[in-house]
Amino acid sequence: MAYGGYTYFDAKYEPAKDDFIVLIWAKGTAPIEKIAEGIASESSVGTWTKLKTMNQFVWEHLRARVFKIHNVGKNAGFIWIAYPYEHFDSKNIMQFCASVMGNIFGLKELEELYVCDIKFPLKYQKQFPGPKAGMEGVRRYVGTEKSRRPHTGTIPKPKVGLNPKEFAHVAYESWIGGLDFVKDDENLVDQKFCPFKERFHEVVNAAERVEKETGRKVLYSPNISDRYDRMMDRMDYVKAHGWPMVMMDVYLMGFSVLPMALEQAHRYNLFTHAHRAGYAAAHRGNYGANFVIYEKYYRMLGVDQLHIGTGVGKMEGGPLLIKRLHQVADEKKGPAKMYLGMLDFEWAPHIKPIFSVSSGGMDAGKVEASVALHGRDVVVQAGGGIHGHPLGTRGGAASMRQAVDAVAKGISLPAYAKTHKELKMALDKFGYVSPKAVLKELADEKKNCKKMDAEVLRQGRGGMEKYS
Ligand code: 3PG
Ligand code: 3PG
Ligand code: MG
Repeated sequence: MAYGGYTYFDAKYEPAKDDFIVLIWAKGTAPIEKIAEGIASESSVGTWTKLKTMNQFVWEHLRARVFKIHNVGKNAGFIWIAYPYEHFDSKNIMQFCASVMGNIFGLKELEELYVCDIKFPLKYQKQFPGPKAGMEGVRRYVGTEKSRRPHTGTIPKPKVGLNPKEFAHVAYESWIGGLDFVKDDENLVDQKFCPFKERFHEVVNAAERVEKETGRKVLYSPNISDRYDRMMDRMDYVKAHGWPMVMMDVYLMGFSVLPMALEQAHRYNLFTHAHRAGYAAAHRGNYGANFVIYEKYYRMLGVDQLHIGTGVGKMEGGPLLIKRLHQVADEKKGPAKMYLGMLDFEWAPHIKPIFSVSSGGMDAGKVEASVALHGRDVVVQAGGGIHGHPLGTRGGAASMRQAVDAVAKGISLPAYAKTHKELKMALDKFGYVSPKAVLKELADEKKNCKKMDAEVLRQGRGGMEKYS
């Protein structure tokens, strides 16, 4: 079944080692085979009609090849497409997206189009630096490389509105209460009521006081997100004042600015905290792209910490999806086949692991469950769950740290709360989320993975959503 005069489906094609593999869910008003042809055409070398300008080089070396279609009814299904390495620019994720995640979203015969996952060949990964410090670098700075306990963090709340002194006071109280990390919120940058430089100095002074008083190393990530020149000015400023970290809204920045900003951060030896605000506009529902793909871009480009969801808090993302996102963040390899609508993955050896951030609706009572899912290589972070604590920020921070200490010692939160007042008050106010439900879901998955995978293949995107 051709599209625009050419046939891109080749069931006999065996993807080459350096091919990119893209897994797509599609549904539309034409047979799925025709839809697959359209997607392969529009995302590689073709258009709606046959071309006098097509030549053998283009067709042989640069076209996409649909090598597998799994029908879910007549007009829907999963589509596997291979793209040749030569199709893409070097070090240019924007160009990659313009092909593979570009025009296809506008094809009118499509009713649903979800780019489920992409496998990047090792040769392509070699073009990118990966994180400079990564999870281990941040751990070394804070001094947890041996203990391996989860890091703790907070976002001063209200999200915006505190003035620099108020904000720094909240930061001070958070660190003194026991936290490692304070960050700006995704929408706080340089507003009149809290100018960037003033806030930065107030917070850094507070951090220095905390370090003197406690002997602990603490971190703050000032949000530099803006147009490129202003971001660079802020990064220069942070570097010039000897501070080691910045934060960026990576999804909103896009792939023109982000690679340059990260390269500069690497040159300056700055840790980067990546917030993903906006990702869910594409990630949720039946039209868009799974965040796992963006996570791969961000790890290749080299962020050090990345928000990936909690599995138990206020943001979308069930345990199985969050578990996968965590694997992609800090493991070398994933399962060796498509599973629940995601592909296998393998990282090039030079691409270091990143620190997963479990944030969004967290509080001390959810720490045990979230760590049961993420493991201990995680930054557990709470805004409301700390600054809404009955004792205020310091007590909230203490409750969070106590929860992490309990988990690190293998003691359940209700037991630890018997001797830790702040934790007890947090459990009384916010409740206790036992890790049982998460652990059961993980155990059920182990037992039923074949059945679940078959269900996803039977139900398509709907089945995928059930497990994500
Ligand atoms: C576009 O980007 O708008 C397309 O490349 C248009 O190409 P077409 O006229 O061949 O569809
Ligand atoms: C985040 O950016 O992750 C949020 O600011 C978390 O805030 P919350 O803990 O109050 O949900
Ligand atoms: Mg936030």
